[in-house]
Amino acid sequence: MPIQKVCVIGAGVMGHGIAQLNAMRGIATLLIDEHEQALQHAKDTIHKNLNISIAKGKFAAELLQKTLDLIDYKTNFDQISDVDLLIEAVPEKMALKKLIFEAADALLPTHALLATNTSSLSVSEIAVCTKRPESVVGLHFFNPPPIMKLLEIVRTEQTSHTSVEMAIAYAAQLQKTHILVNDSPGFATSRLGICLGNEAMRMLEQGVANASDIDQAMVLGYGHPVGPLQLTDIVGLDVRLAISEYLFTKLQNEAFRPPEILKRKVSQGFLGKKSGQGFYAWNQENFEE
Ligand SMILES: NC(=O)c1ccc[n+]([C@@H]2O[C@H](COP(=O)([O-])OP(=O)(O)OC[C@H]3O[C@@H](n4cnc5c(N)ncnc54)[C@H](O)[C@@H]3O)[C@@H](O)[C@H]2O)c1
Repeated sequence: MPIQKVCVIGAGVMGHGIAQLNAMRGIATLLIDEHEQALQHAKDTIHKNLNISIAKGKFAAELLQKTLDLIDYKTNFDQISDVDLLIEAVPEKMALKKLIFEAADALLPTHALLATNTSSLSVSEIAVCTKRPESVVGLHFFNPPPIMKLLEIVRTEQTSHTSVEMAIAYAAQLQKTHILVNDSPGFATSRLGICLGNEAMRMLEQGVANASDIDQAMVLGYGHPVGPLQLTDIVGLDVRLAISEYLFTKLQNEAFRPPEILKRKVSQGFLGKKSGQGFYAWNQENFEE
């Protein structure tokens, strides 16, 4: 059975994009955030981004209202007894994710798949706080979710074959290409991405080149669509710092030690695109996804 109803918890950078993507594929979506303001921002951004896609000829104008109507916005997740799939997209903090999974486990129907969009944290550790670890997977989306082609599926030792099959079928339903990765810190994507991003920051600190030239090295020299510093701005410096700290603790490899420049910028509130300033200044024009 295809997924018919999804609940996304956390309506930030990733949550609103995941909700938009699900609605674009005709899936009823409940988007939850503890802050009313975050929900309003998500609603406005989804509307704006769908209009941009329509203007670019990438989305049919006649589907706009139907797609918007498929998303329901709520500040609590009391009503998830009819949800087939839960996707948690709250900040990269283990304790917070565990709280969400514990609470959702008590409310979801038995057939539901429980997924975390964590970039790096142990999916096994999150799963054990539920009474059904066999139904827990990582579904790692990429930013922006409606556009990026990859879905990284993370399975733990306890994830059942049925749950993996469900996740793979869901990736196809979303028209994404999936990769299947065993649970380990940073999975396949963040582990490699953080290495590159951290080294680019250390090169900036050491005066090897300016931010734009370091990025151009990877864009024009290696064919990356965006450079590692610009990507850090898009992801969020706070998110990248949390991942880097976690990977350094778990893997004890110097490549993952958070660079000083990253720690300093986060403490100053320079979080990248979402705050208007990171390694680059983001004006209203390039704020658009
Ligand atoms: N930013 C990226 O590019 C990116 C990419 C892939 C995966 N991720 C992962 O996705 C997750 C979310 O990251 P993000 O960048 O969207 O974070 P974010 O800070 O932009 O958004 C998180 C949202 O969760 C909400 N929230 C916090 N506590 C909550 C609670 N108890 N109940 C409901 N809502 C709550 C916040 O109000 C906020 O709106 C993280 O695990 C991150 O590692 C991020």
